[in-house]
Amino acid sequence: MIFIDVCVGSSCHLMGSHEIVKLIQNEIANRHLDDEVVLSGCFCLGKCNRSGVSVKVGEEVYTGITPSNFREFWENTVMPAIKNSEM
Ligand code: FES
Repeated sequence: MIFIDVCVGSSCHLMGSHEIVKLIQNEIANRHLDDEVVLSGCFCLGKCNRSGVSVKVGEEVYTGITPSNFREFWENTVMPAIKNSEM
């Protein structure tokens, strides 16, 4: 089980948090990960920037997530973290 928090603070909100939440929800549904992932929104993670949304996966905060780099983020960061959390 892993916790994913998408920042919905004002800066990340403007950078498209809502869209990132939707992309994550789609992945969770398509891959049947409902039992493995707890998805929530959170307030500012203190890492605002202009390149994208901040997302916390477990204890790590990743910044600059956008719809265009989401696939890479999901495959290279989130999926391995989910697999690790299963062990
Ligand atoms: S608003 Fe998201 S890190 Fe600050």
